[in-house]
Amino acid sequence: MNKEMSQALTQTGPGTPMGNLLRRYWVPVVSSDEVKDPDGPQVRVQIMSEKLIVFRDTEGVVGVVNEFCSHRGVSLYFARNEEGGLRCAYHGVKFNRNGQCIDIPSAPELCEKMHIKSYPCVERAGLVWAYMGPEGTQPDLPELEWCLVPESHVFISRRLQESNFLQAMEGGIDTAHVSFVHRYEVDIDPMHVGTQALKYIKADGNVIFTIEKTDFGMTLYGRRNGDDQNYYWRITQWIFPWYTLIPPFGEHALGGHLWVPVDDEHCMAWSINYHPDKPLSIEERQAMQAGKGIHVEYESEKSFRPSQNMQNEYMIDRVAQKEKRSYSGVFGISMQDASLQESMGAIQDHDAEKLLPTDRAIVMARRMLYEFATAPQAQVQPPALKGKSHQIRAAGVLLPKEQDPLMWAAENLAGGLHHPLFTL
Ligand code: FES
Ligand SMILES: [Fe+2]
Repeated sequence: MNKEMSQALTQTGPGTPMGNLLRRYWVPVVSSDEVKDPDGPQVRVQIMSEKLIVFRDTEGVVGVVNEFCSHRGVSLYFARNEEGGLRCAYHGVKFNRNGQCIDIPSAPELCEKMHIKSYPCVERAGLVWAYMGPEGTQPDLPELEWCLVPESHVFISRRLQESNFLQAMEGGIDTAHVSFVHRYEVDIDPMHVGTQALKYIKADGNVIFTIEKTDFGMTLYGRRNGDDQNYYWRITQWIFPWYTLIPPFGEHALGGHLWVPVDDEHCMAWSINYHPDKPLSIEERQAMQAGKGIHVEYESEKSFRPSQNMQNEYMIDRVAQKEKRSYSGVFGISMQDASLQESMGAIQDHDAEKLLPTDRAIVMARRMLYEFATAPQAQVQPPALKGKSHQIRAAGVLLPKEQDPLMWAAENLAGGLHHPLFTL
């Protein structure tokens, strides 16, 4: 990947090609729980290098607005959230959830001329989503399965990753790494343990990929040896521009991720587990809350920074590495990924990489993102703007060696969520 392409894919601030592309989609901003109470404390977040405030107003409706007061630039994190808006703590200028100024104590007549930027937002799947793109081109709301199931069926967490979003997301479509860095962890992790999938994943680290472009992004078919007659296929879905659906493990909850740029050197990694047709058990929910599976433990209650982080070398345990209890010496599936991805540098030096055959999915995803980021926006519709196109599942399945997995998927995965679950 040359410098120009590398920059185009990793820079997502306002007005950048990739920034413009990502702003065509609904973005999860915070979980609804973080702004639970009307007139309760507001939260500050940064999305694609824009600093924002999220708050729930007196009517219980959420607003997503620019962090800074248009009077003299004070942060509205320190504002009073009361009576239908945020009142800046410095001189009392007040803004409603649409960013319109509704009071200037010293000059009420100037109200009309004052406003701050606001973004349309909705609540869905227990998250607050914002649309930060141009007016009039809002896509459908996301219809990934985890957005559609009842709240009792789903658990979602987020963690800050100290790297560009691209290299984080590429970990999600580079499913070859599961045979290595997660090799021992999956034997003890409550959300992976005891499944047939692990047997095949461990026995065959030489995954052979077939990749299919779809109307929502890409389907990745990873082939490993199964038994005499069958291959074991792990079928991962990449839904444009930043979602992945992980092939399932036995009866455990299904999983997925998305990666949202915070700025060019940080991203928010969202991790989702759900059952399509039953609530998560108490044990499952407790394990997820405790940071098992694809979730993490945090540095502190209010922080989204993991307790294992760059500063403490992710609590690497060299003895555990030697004793084959952890492949890299780092524990926790997400932290194994995050530690390696952060170790590449905040923005990976793409000039220096030498890609291998297992990286074909990464190459295709980069090309697709680049193609749509640099295309004239008015002429080209990027993929997955239609909600229906999100209605797809990942799968893990043994198929006869002569069976074409694409044909199998066309019959058994495509066209909606009415199919049985395929998992081993
Ligand atoms: S800076 Fe906000 S009211 Fe003056
Ligand atoms: Fe991983």
